[in-house]
Amino acid sequence: MTEEFHRIRRLPPYVFAEVNKAKAAARAAGDDIIDLGMGNPDSAPPAHVVQKLIETVGNPRAHGYSVSRGIPGLRKAMANYYERRFNVSLDPETEVIATLGSKEGLANLSAAITSPGDTILVPNPSYPIHQFGFIIAGASVRSIPATPDEDMLRALDRAVRHSVPKPTALIVNFPSNPTAFVANLDFYKELVAFARRENIWILSDLAYAEIYFNENEPPPSILAVPGAKDVAVEFTSMSKTYSMAGWRMGFAVGNPKLIQALTRIKSYLDYGAFTPIQVASVAALNGPQDYVSEIRAMYKDRRDVLLRGLQTAGWDVPVPAGSMFAWAPIPPAFAEMGSVAFSKLLLKEAGVAVAPGLGFGEYGEGFVRIGLVENTQRLRQATRAIKSFMTRHGAGAGTADLLGAASS
Ligand SMILES: Cc1ncc(COP(=O)(O)O)c(C=O)c1O
Repeated sequence: MTEEFHRIRRLPPYVFAEVNKAKAAARAAGDDIIDLGMGNPDSAPPAHVVQKLIETVGNPRAHGYSVSRGIPGLRKAMANYYERRFNVSLDPETEVIATLGSKEGLANLSAAITSPGDTILVPNPSYPIHQFGFIIAGASVRSIPATPDEDMLRALDRAVRHSVPKPTALIVNFPSNPTAFVANLDFYKELVAFARRENIWILSDLAYAEIYFNENEPPPSILAVPGAKDVAVEFTSMSKTYSMAGWRMGFAVGNPKLIQALTRIKSYLDYGAFTPIQVASVAALNGPQDYVSEIRAMYKDRRDVLLRGLQTAGWDVPVPAGSMFAWAPIPPAFAEMGSVAFSKLLLKEAGVAVAPGLGFGEYGEGFVRIGLVENTQRLRQATRAIKSFMTRHGAGAGTADLLGAASS
């Protein structure tokens, strides 16, 4: 009887576990840890959405198995969102599917379209399921740079020339977790042209569609590129837009072949989300959207407080234009120790938890991800503690006014 399960052997130990263990131990010892290591929204969802959930739970007919691909009203609400927000028309019957959070959709679509040994192109660093969804499905992953620029495009060209077998799919995620990079439509045009030329599927993860900080430049959808639907699907999520992470509600939209593949595999695996969650999600998507601008303003305030505080501490961090994270190069004085040891040191000495960049892939080493997941008061407290930590280690070099430059 084997205990060496093939798929499990392909999953490396969880890098974050070491820092999480140290965090739990510090808390158990009574330390006040400011946890900026997670990507878990800390706000309540919109009140009218919660009310709709409660109301629907009261309906005795809402407790049976639901529809795996999502109730029709939910798929229609998602299509309306794409029309309103991106000017992209979708057929709710063939081009939209609801998923149990976008993570589940990404994992199951990876399984649906992969043959063992396929080559898949995945940015590094990236959110772990981008890579591991395909690895679990038996693919080999070729890393590409995570920057939405010429570097990535050149790496894609090299990848199709030198990978055997030729790559079958590419994942992108902008605004990105963990790097906070944001792509523009011109970049997506290049990607779509590449994918159409080389017959490669694109999976775009747009989980942070609504968490952006320049009001004049909301992140675009790759599907807004003419012809994108021939090669691309896009994943969105209720988790960050409406702070509904625990509800597990996401979507895939776009290429009908890919949507059909995901629909088919899911029809074998699940019965859809709990109906009241789907009904309340319809209320979120179709109802007033003030909440979304409020949450965006809240994250922007937090970003500004965090970045100013880090600047004062002498830690140079690029100003994120979107997502819930700052992607921070380890200060030079600590660079040698690597992201896991640095995260543990910061936890021990400053009481601040961050996510080590190595957890997002080999090329995440040298960075830590700092989440905007605590209120501004706690963020000020965190940056004051970081400042003392930096001073104690003689690590706080002077910095330029990056934030002033970014907001002007
Ligand atoms: C880039 C990215 N994609 C997907 C997800 C998963 O979202 P969901 O809650 O919809 O599964 C996350 C969660 O943090 C994320 O950061």
